[in-house]
Amino acid sequence: MDAREMKIKAAAAALEHVEDGMRLGIGTGSTAEEFVRLLAEKVAGGLKVEGVPTSERTARLCLELGVPLKSLDELPQLDLTIDGADEVDGRLRLIKGGGGALLREKIVAAASEKMIVIADESKVVETLGRFPLPIEINPFGQVSTCIAVEKAAERLGLTGAMTLRASGDGLFTTDGGHLILDASFGRIPDAEALAIALNTIPGVVEHGLFINLATLAIIAGPAGARVIDA
Ligand code: A5P
Repeated sequence: MDAREMKIKAAAAALEHVEDGMRLGIGTGSTAEEFVRLLAEKVAGGLKVEGVPTSERTARLCLELGVPLKSLDELPQLDLTIDGADEVDGRLRLIKGGGGALLREKIVAAASEKMIVIADESKVVETLGRFPLPIEINPFGQVSTCIAVEKAAERLGLTGAMTLRASGDGLFTTDGGHLILDASFGRIPDAEALAIALNTIPGVVEHGLFINLATLAIIAGPAGARVIDA
């Protein structure tokens, strides 16, 4: 089974949790897009759902495939969000933001009663941090913010390269007009402490540590899908 087939398997298993009438948060990334494709088939077959997309990219795909969308302000409380992840550990803590959509993803997940993560086995880690942590920062004072992030990380014993994400000849910009700082700290033994430390830095808009948000992870491997439960 190749990587795409595993993503489809995880997405199909997540679709079984979707019920008629649900208000859905719809994630971003290649795995979430497989979910959108399967969801669109169900919608075409008569399933009634309303979705809130976590990025402009997801919104475009949903519109193209006929998945009904609302804004989060129109549907401020959601039943279920289904999204991918860059890393997931055994306690359902995540790193997200590889696709640059972490701010909207976190707002949508926090507005949802449940969040199901869909991923293949390559995303499962014992300790978060193999994937560089995406940190969304305001462009204003970006150098000061990078220094503040570096100092906060050092206080927790974390060091490593920090790079502003590039796109073409310039810097990558999120849907909200912010920048992404990718921090290669390596293993993050205390994700909660790092999350709190980053939250106190004014120029940090949000970070890719998702803690206490996912309620279930569906992990697809060559032998089938398994779940990590809360
Ligand atoms: C988007 O910002 C990310 O959080 C994605 O959910 C994450 O990068 C997973 O993407 P893939 O499913 O493409 O690996």
